[in-house]
Amino acid sequence: MKIGHVEVDHGVLLAPMEDVTDLPFRQVCKRYGADIVYTEFISSDGLVRDARRSMEKLQLAENERPVSIQIFGGDQDVMVEAAKRAAEAGPDFVDINFGCWVKNVVVRNAGAALLKDPPQMQKLTRAIVDAVDKPVTVKTRLGWSKDSIVILDVARMIQDAGAAALTVHCRTRDMGHDGDADWSWVPRIKQVVDIPVILNGDVRTPEDVQRAFAETGADAVMIGRAAIGNPFVFRGAKQFLSTGTYDPILPRERIETCLDHLKLELKHKPERRAIHEFRKHYGGYLKGLRNNSSCRQDVVRYESYNAIEDRMLAFADELENADTAVT
Ligand SMILES: Cc1cc2nc3c(=O)[nH]c(=O)nc-3n(C[C@H](O)[C@H](O)[C@H](O)COP(=O)(O)O)c2cc1C
Repeated sequence: MKIGHVEVDHGVLLAPMEDVTDLPFRQVCKRYGADIVYTEFISSDGLVRDARRSMEKLQLAENERPVSIQIFGGDQDVMVEAAKRAAEAGPDFVDINFGCWVKNVVVRNAGAALLKDPPQMQKLTRAIVDAVDKPVTVKTRLGWSKDSIVILDVARMIQDAGAAALTVHCRTRDMGHDGDADWSWVPRIKQVVDIPVILNGDVRTPEDVQRAFAETGADAVMIGRAAIGNPFVFRGAKQFLSTGTYDPILPRERIETCLDHLKLELKHKPERRAIHEFRKHYGGYLKGLRNNSSCRQDVVRYESYNAIEDRMLAFADELENADTAVT
């Protein structure tokens, strides 16, 4: 697949996720093989007002490229201005969110609300494509509800508007994140457009990545929730695609990667905020490790990096000693 200057074969991409895909997490996923990473969505209103949190999200690093900045909003003039500001921050692409299902986004005629008005989605896309000098991509869903699946028309329309790629979260808006993603739409979309089609929804394991490519002919696959606390999924997927097998993730690697990720967060944000915001990641990193609950309960209470590091490394030792005792 080619988007602008970026060419990726069987790409495995990190999905945009609010409060998750900040710069440190994107860098960790990149280290494990994510081919393209996305910022969390950024409010176009916030960007245009120079709101601090929105501006912070524009911060990119060379070692995470290719990276896309995702924006959302409902007002064309504001979206165009926000897209220009996003492009000035130097991403490889600008992505437009037409898929967010949450109420406070949809009531502002943003995100998935545009699935009710594909001509307006096309108009917004064209205005942004015309205004910025970066490839513009779109991420959306199949339709508003299962009775109004519009993705085939939407795909044609956003291609006509000049979009460089389309990511499809294979659910409808009214499904939120529930129910099964329906990948069967991807081959049908591929029949109606030439731009790359990126499959998203329920890709959880390296085996899923392989199956998604084999069953649908998608140009790339995007992983969201399964990457939280589990950047290893990218390495596994890449290895599985090329060799049919992948390395296990050793407990110490899980723990050391978790600490590396936290250290990057500490460089990126004030300590207290970094430590508090990181608490959502322990569950993923410690998942599957024997008797992890007491370690998890401890680290989510700690307020200093050193205390967290000591506890996590002691847990890694405990696991290794238990293994040695068994063998
Ligand atoms: C915590 C969270 C935050 C999300 N934030 C965004 C976002 O900012 N922009 C977006 O396009 N999608 C967002 N999504 C949706 C994901 O990008 C993805 O489409 C969805 O989770 C389905 O993929 P998955 O089954 O691999 O998780 C978010 C999802 C989650 C779970």
